[in-house]
Amino acid sequence: MIKLIKSTFYNEKQTKESLCKFISEAKQLSLGPECNKFEKSFAKWQGRKYCVFFNSGSSANLAIVQALLNLGIIKKNDLAGFSAITWATNPMPLIQLGLQAVPIDVELDTLNMSSRTLIDFLKKHSIKLLFLTNLLGFCDDIDQIKKVCDQNKITLIEDNCESLGTIYKGKKLGNYSHASTFSFFVGHHMSTIEGGAVCTDDREIYIMLNLVRAHGWDRNLEPTAQNKLRKKYEVSSSFYSKYTFYDLGYNLRPTEINGFLGNIQLNFLDQIIKKRQNNFLNLAKAFNKRLDLYFPIDYQHIDLVSNFAFPVICRSKNIRDSLIKKCENKIEIRPIVGGDMTHQPFYSKYMPKYEKLQMNSNAKLIKEQGLYFGNNPEMTNKEIKTIIKVFTK
Ligand SMILES: Cc1ncc(COP(=O)(O)O)c(C=O)c1O
Repeated sequence: MIKLIKSTFYNEKQTKESLCKFISEAKQLSLGPECNKFEKSFAKWQGRKYCVFFNSGSSANLAIVQALLNLGIIKKNDLAGFSAITWATNPMPLIQLGLQAVPIDVELDTLNMSSRTLIDFLKKHSIKLLFLTNLLGFCDDIDQIKKVCDQNKITLIEDNCESLGTIYKGKKLGNYSHASTFSFFVGHHMSTIEGGAVCTDDREIYIMLNLVRAHGWDRNLEPTAQNKLRKKYEVSSSFYSKYTFYDLGYNLRPTEINGFLGNIQLNFLDQIIKKRQNNFLNLAKAFNKRLDLYFPIDYQHIDLVSNFAFPVICRSKNIRDSLIKKCENKIEIRPIVGGDMTHQPFYSKYMPKYEKLQMNSNAKLIKEQGLYFGNNPEMTNKEIKTIIKVFTK
């Protein structure tokens, strides 16, 4: 069986040995210096001013939406657009926090929202927030999407949980927006077992994210931000300041174990991305010879494709269904991420008003005719050959 995920970590044996030593010697295992160090290093790697580390990518998504609400950048009942093909915990926090989560279609050849699908959508709906997903290491014309958002006063945030390391027009995905989220779940680009992050260049958002991550208190803020809050709310007692809760928050903190792992794995990230890029290019070459069976995926506009799974969109449902049978016990496969979100039970339950929006969409076709298999850095040439044989011969 060619598994989706082959290991928990890159350089697994050594990483686990170092982890055992770290745990046995560490004085502190709750959020502390390892996490702080990781935040600084990851922000530098990504090319953003700030990074806040979370216990998952889903938590990062929840926290950024809460932070935007706390800051008054968005309000309850505002319409928020999201990519019709994404993971459930992308639109879920929008719904949980009282926004109207409205799907926007994607392009068939890039699997992502484009300025064209966004402009089409904006003819009928007016949104305050766009929570864009960069799906499976790809993007469409995200620079133009940003322009459309600026022209329409829409706050743009990127869910980059599936595209860590992809470079478009010389810039990493995750750097086109006000803030972007990342996942370090096993099997994603880089693993801290569970983990996630939000990156931003906006200091107010950074401060609010720290507050949202831990109970709504100010303990993890820099002294200047702490003093400003204490002054505003007239908290002069250092006794009460320890248990003063300024705004809505959660407990979404990572542990020092996650931080330690992040600091080790970050050293391998460029290597991991390179290997996955090579796998992707080899596979894409073979799949592009069978355009009779599959729709082409357009990635020529992307400088570097960094994905953890290879998407296949079949010309018909029959082709896709026969592949599901062919892969049984041979190649582990999945639907293309969460498929079209509007067909998920949770969406119909909470957003019935918008569930018909994707009736004849590309998202629907991708759900019904698509699948993906893993692209991991430990993939062997033999496995790549087997996959190519099963899918293209
Ligand atoms: C687009 C997207 N957003 C968010 C997440 C959630 O990340 P996590 O599994 O770290 O909670 C995922 C997970 O696969 C994802 O694909």
